[in-house]
Amino acid sequence: MKILVINGPNLNMLGIREPEIYGRETYQDLLEYIKTSAAELGADVTCYQSNHEGDLVDQIQAAYGVYDGIVINPAAYTHTSVAILDALKAVSLPAVEVHISKVSEREAFRQISYAGMACKKTYAGFGFAGYKMALEFLLDFERAE
Ligand code: DQA
Repeated sequence: MKILVINGPNLNMLGIREPEIYGRETYQDLLEYIKTSAAELGADVTCYQSNHEGDLVDQIQAAYGVYDGIVINPAAYTHTSVAILDALKAVSLPAVEVHISKVSEREAFRQISYAGMACKKTYAGFGFAGYKMALEFLLDFERAE
């Protein structure tokens, strides 16, 4: 199964940004973690990160016909971007939302997730493990199809 993992703005700053919330591991560490998890699970994974909303929309659109599923942490765009929601709906690929932190216990403005409305499942507050859980979910979902 070919899966595209998309990370949004400021996730490239992992390890530096608010370590009390996001931990001390870096974005490079996250890439390694996803690579190892994908190998264990037998998934073919490509990772993409951008700080730009339109680039994230472009990547989602480009996934159509190429990937079998999407794992997405839209970061701050989770709470603002109808464009990312529409792109996920447009390609209609099975998608899973991931957040490193437990957004449900954070500020009021983080309580809405537009992208999540087009996702089959959300994993939030599990740190990097949420990405592996999302890969497992997509593999199980594909097997059940
Ligand atoms: C985040 C949560 C978002 O609210 C925040 O804007 C992020 C990261 C997370 O992974 O916990 O940048 O998506």
